[in-house]
Amino acid sequence: MSATSQTSVITASDILAQKGKAPIVSLTAYTTPMAQMMDQHCDFVLVGDSVGMVLHGLSSTLGVTMEMMILHGAAVARGLSRAMLVIDMPFGSYEESPDQAFRNAARLMRETNAAAVKLEGGVEMAATIRFLVARGIPVMAHVGLTPQSINTLGGYKVQGRDAAGAAVLAGAQAVAEAGAFAVVLEKVPQSLADEITAAVAIPTIGIGASAGCDGQVLVVDDMLGLFTAFKPKFVKRYGTLGVDAEAAIAAYAAEVRARAFPAAEHVFADQTTPAKG
Ligand code: KIV
Repeated sequence: MSATSQTSVITASDILAQKGKAPIVSLTAYTTPMAQMMDQHCDFVLVGDSVGMVLHGLSSTLGVTMEMMILHGAAVARGLSRAMLVIDMPFGSYEESPDQAFRNAARLMRETNAAAVKLEGGVEMAATIRFLVARGIPVMAHVGLTPQSINTLGGYKVQGRDAAGAAVLAGAQAVAEAGAFAVVLEKVPQSLADEITAAVAIPTIGIGASAGCDGQVLVVDDMLGLFTAFKPKFVKRYGTLGVDAEAAIAAYAAEVRARAFPAAEHVFADQTTPAKG
């Protein structure tokens, strides 16, 4: 499968240049219609590996494959002409070596038209980030709570409280020095997020971090209220689409059972009425 050749207006250099200026706006997207709605409002759209949990019912992001990312990445690309497309590298596609990371990052970009990849990890991923950037792949890093490591982190806990903050800061500094154009800070204390934002020369993108970050990202289904199983503290629901959708489905089911749908206006007559005049 090959991607379209369309390129979005906003680039990694624009995102980098936005640090200290206007806040950077981002949401995740997994489908073309959602990407179309975001294109004029977001600076970058992230095809997150959260797609596995949000759309495919997985219990973590660990089961997400390259094929899933490519399918959703290409769909999102078809909905964007302005906002930059960033795509997550799934678990197991980059950690082994810089060569493995390059091979899979290049495939993601080639087959989806994404303009950058995102990968999780701090100090331990710095050499890989340097390798990718030197070979033409813009990289967004991700430190703090890194969901692909829940089995070693022991769950979805806040990261970097107290003394542990030094390691998260060191990770953010390492990825910035390695050439990442931005870094996601997930689920870290506000004071640590502010300290990192002041310490690194690249934009910090917060999710459960601080309003002082250079930008914010949320999972779109969370902020629309589509994903209702639970609501993390850091999510603000800007809509109630899940409740609205279930009410619409229930109303449809009741009308079908009552033979109230389809009504006269939804069915076809035997013959069309000839046009007048
Ligand atoms: O996978 C994802 O959606 C993410 C963000 C929410 C940062 O990594």
